[in-house]
Amino acid sequence: MTVKGQTNLAGLELVDRDDAGVDRAFRADVLAGLAQQQKAIPARWFYDERGSELFEDITSQPEYYPTRAETEILESRGREFAEAIGAGQAVVEFGSGSSIKTPLLLRAIEPAAYVPLDISGDFLRAAAADLSDKFPGLPVYPVEADFMRRVELPEEVADLKKLGFFPGSTIGNMIAPTAVDLLRNMAATLGVGSMLLIGMDLVKDTQILEAAYDDAAGVTAAFNLNLVHRVNRELAGTIAVAELRHKARWNDDFARIEMHLEAKSEMHFEVAGRPFTLKKGETIHTENSHKFTARSANMLLTAGGWTPIHRWNDTEERFSLILAQSAPPRSAP
Ligand code: AVI
Repeated sequence: MTVKGQTNLAGLELVDRDDAGVDRAFRADVLAGLAQQQKAIPARWFYDERGSELFEDITSQPEYYPTRAETEILESRGREFAEAIGAGQAVVEFGSGSSIKTPLLLRAIEPAAYVPLDISGDFLRAAAADLSDKFPGLPVYPVEADFMRRVELPEEVADLKKLGFFPGSTIGNMIAPTAVDLLRNMAATLGVGSMLLIGMDLVKDTQILEAAYDDAAGVTAAFNLNLVHRVNRELAGTIAVAELRHKARWNDDFARIEMHLEAKSEMHFEVAGRPFTLKKGETIHTENSHKFTARSANMLLTAGGWTPIHRWNDTEERFSLILAQSAPPRSAP
């Protein structure tokens, strides 16, 4: 394996735990979220080991089109990517996960290096090993870091042009101010003149969208409910999981699918020693998945310091991959 430099992969954890091993940020987010009038738990806590497995299963459900649509673009537009992006880039992937999409991009553009960024050392090791096996000559420099912030890239890629890669429409899981902060931090990480290839899911028929987040096999429901299992296990929760129902609904005002957990009956429970009540029909809001139009995507990218220069859609116009360029700030009327 030709993994060149490793940053903080020596078993050091980035997670801040108390003496009992509880993730302090998880506990703080859940307690604050359950104390709100509209109860909420941030979607980033879905991804424990079981949650990550369930998400992988979601991507192969017949109703969940985004992964297939984005893969179709990556498989069919290789030559156009090569032309627009050029060879010799250091490809910096934000949240490397266990993606099957990366090889499709790397095969198309002849990169000079691959830099996966992930907060999870396990995912990083897997992504680095997998890519090194598939691309034996390609230097791989994994960096364990929270990509929501500005990240110091390895010195070895300092002189290379940078292409950020952020597939999957994960940007859609953030509310606008968070998405803008992330885009700005990506520009700071990659530097002036760099490029970003970003996946963004498109607004479409409500039925198609709601089905994608409420598949017939119940995998997305299990993914949503797994969050409650995690709260019960890690935060001494006493939530009756069977009394909660998975809901996925389109919110047209904000152009997003919202996932909620709805109480089938009045519920009383504790989390980390604190008491909470859910009335019958009340919900815990667990995820937003924003969908974009060409204009709203351009607006978001521009607000984040990126100028869109190319857009590729799948044949059914369900999903966009957008190439954008980071430009120095300039005056405008
Ligand atoms: C990771 N993210 C882009 C997925 C989405 O489509 O918003 C997460 C997901 N939630 C339910 N299904 C998939």
